[in-house]
Amino acid sequence: MRQQVVAPARLSGVVRPPGDKSISHRAAMLNALATGQARVTNYSAGGDCASTLRCLRALGVQVQAGGGDGSLVIEGVGLHGLREPSDVLDVGNSGTTARLLAGLLAGQPFLSVLTGDRSLRSRPMDRIVRPLREMGAQVLGREGDSRAPLVIRGGNLRGIEYRMPVASAQVKSCLLIAGLYARGATTLRQPAPSRDHTERMLRRMGVPLREDGLALTAEPVEALMPLDVRVPADISSAAYWLVAGACHPDGRLTVADVGINPTRAGILEALQAMGARATIAHRREEGGEEVADVTVETSRLQGAEIGGELVPRLIDEVPVLALAACFARGTTVIRGAAELRVKESDRIRTTVRELSRLGAHIRELPDGMEVHGTGKLVGAAVQSHGDHRLAMMLGIAGLLAQGETEVRGAEAASVSYPGFWRDLERVAQGARRAEAAVPSRVE
Ligand code: S3P
Repeated sequence: MRQQVVAPARLSGVVRPPGDKSISHRAAMLNALATGQARVTNYSAGGDCASTLRCLRALGVQVQAGGGDGSLVIEGVGLHGLREPSDVLDVGNSGTTARLLAGLLAGQPFLSVLTGDRSLRSRPMDRIVRPLREMGAQVLGREGDSRAPLVIRGGNLRGIEYRMPVASAQVKSCLLIAGLYARGATTLRQPAPSRDHTERMLRRMGVPLREDGLALTAEPVEALMPLDVRVPADISSAAYWLVAGACHPDGRLTVADVGINPTRAGILEALQAMGARATIAHRREEGGEEVADVTVETSRLQGAEIGGELVPRLIDEVPVLALAACFARGTTVIRGAAELRVKESDRIRTTVRELSRLGAHIRELPDGMEVHGTGKLVGAAVQSHGDHRLAMMLGIAGLLAQGETEVRGAEAASVSYPGFWRDLERVAQGARRAEAAVPSRVE
């Protein structure tokens, strides 16, 4: 286990977070099923997206990775060109790989076994097992078919109409992918909108998708067209810098080329509602997704009530939003976020526990947390619980707290953002160089 010591520093610079993790998984999986070659650029360098590529290769897909810059060439094998894997498929820590891949495997007439690390094996899989079975796939798992390892023998699927109990993009995407193989249409009724990268990509690959309010209907297709994808920077990774810039007493940070798809950009809305001074520049569309450069400066934040349909649009950013709330005036209440309990860690419990060690006035709610902003944290030893989002949130907490903060289990960040600690050192050091009157714009 690696530890990282972080101390306060002035902050300035430009950060280009890695390629969006959600878009990367989808670009790889859907292009693997397309007929022909596709090029993906800025594919996420994180461990989760490497797990997706490993599994696709084990299913007979050729993926060439060039030069370590996130460029991939994927040779799509067509919807029916995958081959039975000769071994268990290991998704590591990646819930998105597990659930989307399960949808894909449910369409295949062969046997696959899917497993992952300890955290992954503790996460609920019944949310996909039940509807996939309803579509006609055979799926078995541990603990009453609710946990991985999962054993899947697919094929011969039929379209269903399914009312989703949770607003989960992973469940939605799993079933849309399985629906590509079904006889008849698949209709999903969502309780609230969640990230829509799968829908955007499927449409561009030739799949007829209809939306009627929160209902989504997909028709099966003969083939998918390959789609070149330039992956924008991940807003979930950018969120750490947005919070750092806003809460720091003397900060100004820009995140460049970041995806601001409205189904993902809830953190921007929440921070702006709390009074963050954020500027969105160079808004553009790239490959069916909205992209921009976002600059955040030292702000006087105000507590807020976070809940309802905003929650699925910022679900992965709740730990760092809780950190922001420590520096806001008044109380912030986050509700309707019980899903956090079944992420890579129980993020309600781990966020409250670790921020408390730094002196935060924060308490657990069954479906969220309540934070009384004091404007002050004090450095201490804290623990990532093997959760990448906790590791990074605590790294930023270390920049904002008085004294030194020691983040144990810092290596967890590499699941989504392998360069996180390097970037942190760079923007903090850049600020120190700025004090010594050299250019403050670090790139
Ligand atoms: C993801 C969806 C979310 C999110 C996860 C990535 C995706 O999970 O927490 O990090 O790429 O579809 P749920 O769909 O389970 O909410």
